[in-house]
Amino acid sequence: MIFEALSVFPEVFSPYLDASILGRAQRAGIFSFEAHDLRDWTHDRHRTVDDAPFGGGQGMLMKPAPIFEALDDLSARGEKPPHVVFFSPCGERFDQRVAERLSREERILFVCGRYEGIDERVYTLADDVLSIGDYVLTGGELAAMVVIDAVVRLLPGALGDELSAVDESFSQAGLLEYAQYTRPASYRGMDVPEVLLSGDHARVDAWRRSNAIERTALWRPDLIETAPLSDEERARALGIIAQGKGEGERR
Ligand code: ADE
Repeated sequence: MIFEALSVFPEVFSPYLDASILGRAQRAGIFSFEAHDLRDWTHDRHRTVDDAPFGGGQGMLMKPAPIFEALDDLSARGEKPPHVVFFSPCGERFDQRVAERLSREERILFVCGRYEGIDERVYTLADDVLSIGDYVLTGGELAAMVVIDAVVRLLPGALGDELSAVDESFSQAGLLEYAQYTRPASYRGMDVPEVLLSGDHARVDAWRRSNAIERTALWRPDLIETAPLSDEERARALGIIAQGKGEGERR
């Protein structure tokens, strides 16, 4: 997978993308990343990428020309034109389903806006406009790294352990993940549920399923409607939602 970003701060990506699991995945050839400096497509001495909005108002907007010219150039490079992703709080909400869809692309170019916004005509270049949540960031760079992180861990081999990408919140059965514990079995008066120490795999599986349903009903009741549950499980989840608590929950 090839990722590229177009940004006026191309240096902000590598501290995160070169570290830990993502760094290892890059070195293993699972993905590559290149940041392009948008100012390379300006023609004035000050390398200007922004201008005041028509109609007046606060702040500056990204000008169309550097972005259009950059995309002309970058699309002509390489074997395949990139899938072009823009970021905006007005975009489609980024979630695990979108991450899975993007993980099937070969080359993705993220256009990272700064300032108060981008000239509206630039969005005609977008294959996707994504929002990572209902809050406003100062630019698209963090959003691009959020998307890269979520997509890379879906690529074969990226996590080392092939199973861990599947059995997690949202990916598997539309439920939040069950609670997990490691040693010690008792810590500051808090005990690991007895069943997890039993070595009885069938009982452990049943407890995990039940715990995942309980936590989802408590913390993300909106997911219960679409989660694939048996009639019995759904009735229990709806009971927890109505009561506002589950057995032994701390929140
Ligand atoms: N740019 C500014 N805010 C954003 C957000 N919430 N998601 C994606 N891009 C953004």
